Amino acid sequence: MFSVDRRSFLHQAANAGVAWGASSLLGGAFLRAQTSPLSANDVARVYVDSRRVTAPLDRNLFGSFLEHLGRAIYEGVYDPGSKLSDTNGFRKDVIGEIRQMGVPIVRYPGGNFVSGYNWLDGVGPKVSRPRVLDKAWNAINTNQFGTNEFMAWCKAAGTEPLMGLNLGTGTPEEAAALVEYCNLDQGTKWSDLRRKQGFAEPYKVKRWCLGNEMDGPWQIGHMTATEYGLKAQDAARQMRYVDPSLQLIACGSSGPFMPTYLEWDREVLEQCYDYVDGLSLHRYFTNAPADTGGDSSKFLAMNLSMEQQIAETVAVCDLVRGHKRSPKQLWLSFDEWNVWYRARSGDYTNGHHQEAPHLLEEVYNLEDALLVGGLLNSLLRNANRVKVACLAQLINVIAPIMTNANGLLRQTIYYPYNWALQYARGSVLNLLAQSPTYEVAKMGQVPYLDVAGTIDPGDGKLAIFVLNRDLSKPHVVEINWQDITPGQVLVSSVLSGTDLKAFNSFEAPKHVAPQTFDKPSTTGGRTKFEVPARSYTVIQWSA
Ligand code: AHR
Repeated sequence: MFSVDRRSFLHQAANAGVAWGASSLLGGAFLRAQTSPLSANDVARVYVDSRRVTAPLDRNLFGSFLEHLGRAIYEGVYDPGSKLSDTNGFRKDVIGEIRQMGVPIVRYPGGNFVSGYNWLDGVGPKVSRPRVLDKAWNAINTNQFGTNEFMAWCKAAGTEPLMGLNLGTGTPEEAAALVEYCNLDQGTKWSDLRRKQGFAEPYKVKRWCLGNEMDGPWQIGHMTATEYGLKAQDAARQMRYVDPSLQLIACGSSGPFMPTYLEWDREVLEQCYDYVDGLSLHRYFTNAPADTGGDSSKFLAMNLSMEQQIAETVAVCDLVRGHKRSPKQLWLSFDEWNVWYRARSGDYTNGHHQEAPHLLEEVYNLEDALLVGGLLNSLLRNANRVKVACLAQLINVIAPIMTNANGLLRQTIYYPYNWALQYARGSVLNLLAQSPTYEVAKMGQVPYLDVAGTIDPGDGKLAIFVLNRDLSKPHVVEINWQDITPGQVLVSSVLSGTDLKAFNSFEAPKHVAPQTFDKPSTTGGRTKFEVPARSYTVIQWSA
């Protein structure tokens, strides 16, 4: 309906000598500051035109992930011995939190775990389920929580399943059997098994991941791109015979660090393009000295590298589409993304044959939360092609929420994620943002301010999300309203602080938490406000 002319906006931005807050990528290279970059003291300007939108926002852009890993499932969502659990053994506080956040979709059961998982071990009477050694994490899976428990948990938590399939040790036939178990009503071997096991209603699971990170030598059943592409094609074909309405996601590259990056994606799609709807991407960001030199201003620019990864992967999808003369355009499923580097050294994959071992319990600080805000901005700006994305993970394992015997803790990264869930609604705005810039080695000029926004055509509510990457200075932001005047400020909150390394703990759970700030007023078609140094801000207006 709306005409989207992103290229002419880019052209304007380049000619005006500004860094484009909405995308610093042009032809795969970072857009360098042009002839007259804004000085560090200049006001940043954002132009909002409600007629210019990038795409309707698919809520599944703010999904998450639960793997049979560490304490994510056992002790995280399922803990029958806990005083906080219901009669199903589900942690009620966790369910309440997920429901209140409105997490739209949750990927399960892995991750690396899925590539050695036999789903039949996790269904049927609990007393008969085997204790299995999970070789991905070297831990014991008691199988007390399996497919039916996950479906019941999703229903209780108000979310949808995104089911992962084992294409490592598992066969296409077993994948199709799980679809039949989950989605057919009755009258077939696997749907009747589900009924016999006490679950009369089919779950009608719509979205499925065809394996996990099959490009990685660490993956159980790792294979070449051609082998995987053919296996994914066969699985997709058999699954669609069972249920033609499925949406299927093929495994793309595990990240740009892979030697086969993009070549893997191209070859996989050459084999299975016609059989799938989406392609997956994964990425974990780090501020380890070996990666960024521990330089936080570089770390806070890393969301632009996520955009580069998206642009490159989209290019490969469209290249194969061209080869195949296909009318179908694939979408991307960024189904693992987060900051993760501290709980990633030494023995981190070793569960020592324990049940619910403490693995990957990353403690997140303020700067991680600021980058997560930037990453959410990047996902928003790419909502035209990224239709599913999963913050990896949800509970206890590289997670926004941690549990102990007495309750739960919101880590720093919870806040930007929750803001996206609460306030990013409707359609993504195609903003023009002019910001002063700073130099980052190997990236060029990076805007201090990173801005994204949404508008809900239903109720007219509009939200703007601003990351200030400047570690030492506040910046003034001026919003220039092109075609509308916003109503009242409904929400104005900021996450900031003096210590980038500050974190929350069960002893000090609100050490890093959002603050409200004075509602900015609008006069003469402009709204001006100041964002503090090292901050992520959300403002929401009524129509
Ligand atoms: O999320 C943790 C692990 O990271 C997942 O199991 C795997 O897919 C990725 O490498």
